Amino acid sequence: MPPSRPHGLYAFTMPRVPLIAVTPNKAKMRVYLKACRAQNGTIGNKGEIPWYVKNTEDIEELSVGCPVIMGRRTGGKLMGPLSNRVNILITSDKNYKKEGFHIFNDSDSALDFAKSQKNDKCFVLGGGSIFRQFLNYTDTIYLTTLLADFEGDTFFPKDFAEKFAKTNSVMYNSNIDFIFETYERYYD
Ligand SMILES: NC(=O)c1ccc[n+]([C@@H]2O[C@H](COP(=O)([O-])OP(=O)(O)OC[C@H]3O[C@@H](n4cnc5c(N)ncnc54)[C@H](OP(=O)(O)O)[C@@H]3O)[C@@H](O)[C@H]2O)c1
Repeated sequence: MPPSRPHGLYAFTMPRVPLIAVTPNKAKMRVYLKACRAQNGTIGNKGEIPWYVKNTEDIEELSVGCPVIMGRRTGGKLMGPLSNRVNILITSDKNYKKEGFHIFNDSDSALDFAKSQKNDKCFVLGGGSIFRQFLNYTDTIYLTTLLADFEGDTFFPKDFAEKFAKTNSVMYNSNIDFIFETYERYYD
């Protein structure tokens, strides 16, 4: 469900691109990728997210109730698991443990575990290396773009839009204005 628009300037809905209603995911679970990038593509700097944006609570809650997948550099920094979600963390460290997280050593096992949760969707929450690896499995992208540039060392994949069609776009007023967009994969 799209978030409400607490301080929106305007909203427009793109015409839906006809998609063949078959997903490539074996268990028919849809894979959602949720990211926030600066206008210049930055998603992180020195292991942190270099901004604080107000009015994003509804966007943060989109993944509630679903399995969520994170890389070790992202999930490892959290104080604990995200509430009301099955938290899945990927690392190459075979001895890695973190309370409240299911640990996997490769992306396929992590995705298979997410599918085994019998949910109709899961969310890929980053960071950069995980976004790049899971883009091929992703059906829907929820992408927030801040209307400001930020210095950073981690970026959202530039060429992602080649395989996705923008289906929705809403602009919000906040301490940093932003656009929340939905992209759906083209299937052939
Ligand atoms: N703006 C946003 O939407 C957003 C969201 C999330 C995070 N971020 C930011 O993104 C940055 C982190 O991104 P990142 O790319 O540096 O790190 P990351 O994707 O969070 O985690 C990378 C780590 O995940 C593990 N990993 C990834 N792929 C793997 C694979 N196929 N097999 C085994 N392990 C694998 C490795 O852990 P090991 O080194 O333990 O092997 C790797 O070092 C931070 O600045 C964070 O704040 C931004």
